[in-house]
Amino acid sequence: MSAYRLLFSHQAMVGMVLLIALWLLIAHFLSSSRPWDTGIWSLSGVLQPHSKLTVLIWHWPFNKSLPLDGDVCARYGVADCWLSTNRSLLHRANVVVFHHHELQSGAVRLPLAKRPPGQPWVWTNLESPSNTHGLSRYRNIFTWVMSYRRDSDIFVPYGELVPRAGPDLPVPAKNRTAAWVISNYRRTQKRALVYSQLSKYLLIDVFGRASRKPLCAGCLLPTLAPYRFYLAFENSQHPDYITEKLWRNALSAGVVPVVLGPPRATYEAFLPADSFVHVDDFGSVRDLATFLKSVNASHYQRFFAWRKRLAVRLYSDWRERFCGVCARYPHLPQGQVYRDLEAWFKSQ
Ligand SMILES: *[C@@H]1O[C@H](CO)[C@@H](O)[C@H](O)[C@H]1NC(C)=O
Ligand SMILES: *[C@@H]1O[C@H](CO)[C@@H](O)[C@H](O)[C@H]1NC(C)=O
Ligand SMILES: *[C@@H]1O[C@H](CO)[C@@H](O)[C@H](O)[C@H]1NC(C)=O
Ligand SMILES: *[C@@H]1O[C@H](CO)[C@@H](O)[C@H](O)[C@H]1NC(C)=O
Repeated sequence: MSAYRLLFSHQAMVGMVLLIALWLLIAHFLSSSRPWDTGIWSLSGVLQPHSKLTVLIWHWPFNKSLPLDGDVCARYGVADCWLSTNRSLLHRANVVVFHHHELQSGAVRLPLAKRPPGQPWVWTNLESPSNTHGLSRYRNIFTWVMSYRRDSDIFVPYGELVPRAGPDLPVPAKNRTAAWVISNYRRTQKRALVYSQLSKYLLIDVFGRASRKPLCAGCLLPTLAPYRFYLAFENSQHPDYITEKLWRNALSAGVVPVVLGPPRATYEAFLPADSFVHVDDFGSVRDLATFLKSVNASHYQRFFAWRKRLAVRLYSDWRERFCGVCARYPHLPQGQVYRDLEAWFKSQ
């Protein structure tokens, strides 16, 4: 339990239970509908699902709405989970999820005045702290956090390696050296500095908006596949911040990642140690370039040894992430609040 989260004391808990019981009783008499039919309150004051959990998506991330027809979560192997964007369900939703980008831009406001007492609220964000602003406004509000940080209540990585179901395809044939896809180039970012030094020693083909060579969604993997190395450089360096640059652009394309991001130990929590090259492994960018040029064919194939037993699983659908709230629900800490969300998110 991190110092930035707060668990209510025992006495406060008992008080809360009494309050909730009173509130339930009053609501029961006031309401002819049955707003509680998604759950019952146990003696501990914890909502125990006995049928479906309702997860209210207050707004779609980046305003990209997705269909919610049928049993969406069943498709992801999550039972008894109902996703809805109908804000009229606020008073009876089991959990409400808020995506940070729209809170940050001011496009959406939290319905604080209408929040039912004790309703769990989830803050979700997949950007790094360098690109996340306005967090100081959210003290003592959110119950749980959904992010790429492993210490999140609901951990949502950009990808992972899973046991392989079928036989592996051959590693794509290679006849090019190194590639980089970059849409937001800023000279002062560490990734730009490493790239500019590395490009003195190594031929690097650059794609993406920043180089005026954008790749269409379907062109990305076939374009990158003939390269021996891919610069999976994160836009900023923060704990656990590893994105689709690693999972999709490099590993799914069948290209060896050269990573710049959190320390090697973090990558090794997700990947075999011999499946990637870490910029920090070398005393200088020149040494890194020398190493990349020295890798012979048999050594190169060893980077892909994991593919015999593992496959890349990408996570990109927000519905799957939201269904994850239900999957994790029975294990989520009760009576918790992020007292200082900013300090937690920015902690090392
Ligand atoms: C979100 O998208 C809808 C249509 O899909 C549009 O009407 C609305 O203005 C958009 N909102 C924002 C804040 O961009
Ligand atoms: C939203 O929920 C309310 C309350 O259950 C219901 O009356 C309304 O028809 C729903 N709206 C939509 C668009 O489903
Ligand atoms: C690599 O091979 C492809 C076809 O297999 C060819 O079009 C391309 O020109 C080759 N690139 C280099 C740098 O030799
Ligand atoms: C390839 O490189 C590895 C590791 O550096 C080395 O042990 C091996 O002898 C090399 N193989 C050939 C055929 O040069």
